Amino acid sequence: MDDSRETHGVNAFVTGYPVKHSRSPLIHGYWLRQLELAGSYRAHEVPVEDFTAFIASVKDGTSGFVGGNVTIPHKEAAFKLADRPDELSSELGASNTLWLENGLLHATNTDGRGFTANLDERHSGWDRSDRAVILGAGGASRAIIQAVRDRGFKEIHVVNRTVERAKELADRFGDRVHAHPMAALGEVMQGAGLFINTTSLGMDGEAAPRIDFSPLVQDAVVTDIVYVPLKTPLLAQAEEQGFAIVDGLGMLLHQAVPGFEKWFGKRPAVDGTLRALIIADMEKH
Ligand code: ATR
Repeated sequence: MDDSRETHGVNAFVTGYPVKHSRSPLIHGYWLRQLELAGSYRAHEVPVEDFTAFIASVKDGTSGFVGGNVTIPHKEAAFKLADRPDELSSELGASNTLWLENGLLHATNTDGRGFTANLDERHSGWDRSDRAVILGAGGASRAIIQAVRDRGFKEIHVVNRTVERAKELADRFGDRVHAHPMAALGEVMQGAGLFINTTSLGMDGEAAPRIDFSPLVQDAVVTDIVYVPLKTPLLAQAEEQGFAIVDGLGMLLHQAVPGFEKWFGKRPAVDGTLRALIIADMEKH
């Protein structure tokens, strides 16, 4: 059987509220065309009060979808409503990727894999040191803490304006994760080989605080999970100070890979054309 017949009628979604700004349809649309598959992937906006009914329609097949991506504010509900959440999403309490398998709705969270795959691609050796610093303790930092811990970092220091939120995450992710207030940033950066920003610092119209990256080891890498703008204020500072930087766009691209493979049966590649396509779209909006 050829691929187009195999995947004929396979439809996947990205759902959120709102969802119209999602770039996932561009990413999956690119891969569907590149691999000459007959499936579809589209944005499907669902308000919070309708989400349970939407998931029921995916499970019973009436939606016509074989699975999809879930974004804000539905990630926690998707995890709870799935029949078979995997270990990664169970620890996070949130899922961003769903697929039907033998009539059951499976769920995972691919953000962490997107994060590590991006660094593997753009800065191999990023995982050589023992110590990582993560700035921010919001929803987005959880998958990053999990991924960095699972990659083998021995000390993971989560620094947050509201230290209680960082403490909650340190409790959740085990004894290699430590919580600190902002005032401790310089101290915990001492000797770290990886610095990750997960906050929107400097992007809400306020000036970015000045960060002195010099306590990091000389060959440290500084990365950001925010990708609009591509070079965030913190990445620009780190680069000026002579550190290697990796932007967050690749995380978005790589986190999409496992879902595509589940729904459409082929593993897609993150390539330069895809990256350029998303950058061109960012410049339009
Ligand atoms: P997300 O789910 O996208 O991570 P979030 O839950 O709102 O979003 O978290 C945003 C993160 O950025 C938090 O760590 C937040 O710190 P608080 O927990 O103290 O709110 C951090 N953040 C946002 N604006 C900040 C600012 N001006 N100064 C310091 N931290 C900031």
